[in-house]
Amino acid sequence: MYNERIKRAELQSRIITATQAAALFRDQMVVASSGFTKAGDSKAVLKALAARAQEDPLQITLLTGASLGHGTDGILTTAHVLKKRMPFQVDPILRQSINDGEVLFIDQHLGESAELIHEKVIPKVDIAVIEALMLEEDGSIVPTTSVGNSPAFAAAADKIIVEINMSVPVSLHGIHDIFMAGNWPNRQIIPVTDAGTRIGSHAIKIDPEKIAGIVLTETTDSPAQINERDDKTRAIAGHLLTFFEREIRLGRLTHRLRPLQSGIGKVANAVMEGFIDGNFHDLTMYSEVMQDSTFSLIDAGKLLLGSASSITVSEACYHRVFNNFEKYKPHIVLRPQDISNAAEVIRRLGVISINTAIECDIYGNVNSTHIGGTHMMNGIGGSNDFARNAYLSIFVTQSSSKAGAISHIVPMASHIDNTEHDVDIIVTENGLADLRGLAPRERAKLIIANCAHASYRDELNDYFSNACKTGGHTPHRLQEALSWHTRFKDNGTMLRTVPL
Ligand code: COA
Repeated sequence: MYNERIKRAELQSRIITATQAAALFRDQMVVASSGFTKAGDSKAVLKALAARAQEDPLQITLLTGASLGHGTDGILTTAHVLKKRMPFQVDPILRQSINDGEVLFIDQHLGESAELIHEKVIPKVDIAVIEALMLEEDGSIVPTTSVGNSPAFAAAADKIIVEINMSVPVSLHGIHDIFMAGNWPNRQIIPVTDAGTRIGSHAIKIDPEKIAGIVLTETTDSPAQINERDDKTRAIAGHLLTFFEREIRLGRLTHRLRPLQSGIGKVANAVMEGFIDGNFHDLTMYSEVMQDSTFSLIDAGKLLLGSASSITVSEACYHRVFNNFEKYKPHIVLRPQDISNAAEVIRRLGVISINTAIECDIYGNVNSTHIGGTHMMNGIGGSNDFARNAYLSIFVTQSSSKAGAISHIVPMASHIDNTEHDVDIIVTENGLADLRGLAPRERAKLIIANCAHASYRDELNDYFSNACKTGGHTPHRLQEALSWHTRFKDNGTMLRTVPL
């Protein structure tokens, strides 16, 4: 059965079990694994490593593309295997350990992690575990549902363990576009001129001698949790669609818009689904992850081409897409994450980027990562790769949540990932603030009026007018600026009606 998946015959003798593969790891190794937003990750070897660690403790630094599925990060954390982790995660058990200071986490722009490996800023990768659709005649690795950092990992690693996932249809062959820009001072231009431009090969070229073992798996990717559109996300999508129609009337955009990027999170996916209802057509995506909304837009005949580094979809969407893959194949390109998230390409294409904020402040600074200013949620992911370089950088959030106890528009963000300089538009269910061309004092008025929840608007206005009395280009009353966060911590609500 695996003949068609391991085309270089001599490699067929390297098939081993996950347990045998786990025995190849040593304490303090730097390990790299495929996997991006839970897609194309290691299904067997990392779990077998966690099982081995129960008897034979060891610790590793683990690098990935982005998040892993199947609770693997949690299983590794529980087995005390993780010493250091980068560049992104979404696992509740690992999150807890990061916030307890037990696992060291480097929260990194997803577009930059390959560069750190190529430039040898990160210690050398000892073993790379890479999920593959198949191995070509020359030993090249054809990835599965994500590319992520796998080309960089394969190039840097001393040894490679390949997990061939027999459940992924071979019809995926051909959707990948592997390109490496090389290192300074000879780094090449990345010649992507529209979302669909192909500039590379279908597989990751490697030295086949590096393959230390091949493990066969049959587990599909973890499904994405997709939240149905609700009144809030519908309202946010509505404000955005109205905004785009206005930009079209003003002659700044056409109904094709420009290549779209949508981040993770329930709001961002719902907003993308909102494009199905609009008058938009011939849309393209230049994003890092294709979610259910990508395929809904293809089905609706609205999306011509989706380019990303992974396909992360719900279970129902997974079966719909992979059982009819020939239909979707012409519309899809999967790229390494340093290409999907490349500043150069995002800027050239004029991407419209839509990401979710944990909170925004009255001047437009966005916190994407830290709850209460200290506790890691997931990581910055690709949000700033896109936000910094996009033609339009949009952040969406609810105005308030937890029955009104949290305001997502605050006087001062408790942590800042995307600065006021990188943020063009903020949208909540209440409305949209177009911050382009506005000075900080103008922005504050607009954000409070259009985006804040009614129950917090007066206090935000009070804060802003008192801050203006103390002067400054970006006025603040530092003694009060973070008080909403401390109030939430102490009282369980940011509302000031609760006795202090
Ligand atoms: N104070 C306290 N808790 C807060 C909070 C705040 N200001 N803001 C959010 N939270 C809590 C929510 O209540 C929720 O808690 P729960 O799980 O107990 O319900 C949790 O944080 C997550 O918030 P939610 O609104 O459900 O998140 P989401 O699914 O919309 O995702 C981000 C929002 C910001 C966490 C997510 O988009 C992300 O990780 N972004 C960074 C990476 C990124 O943008 N990548 C983009 C390219 S893919």
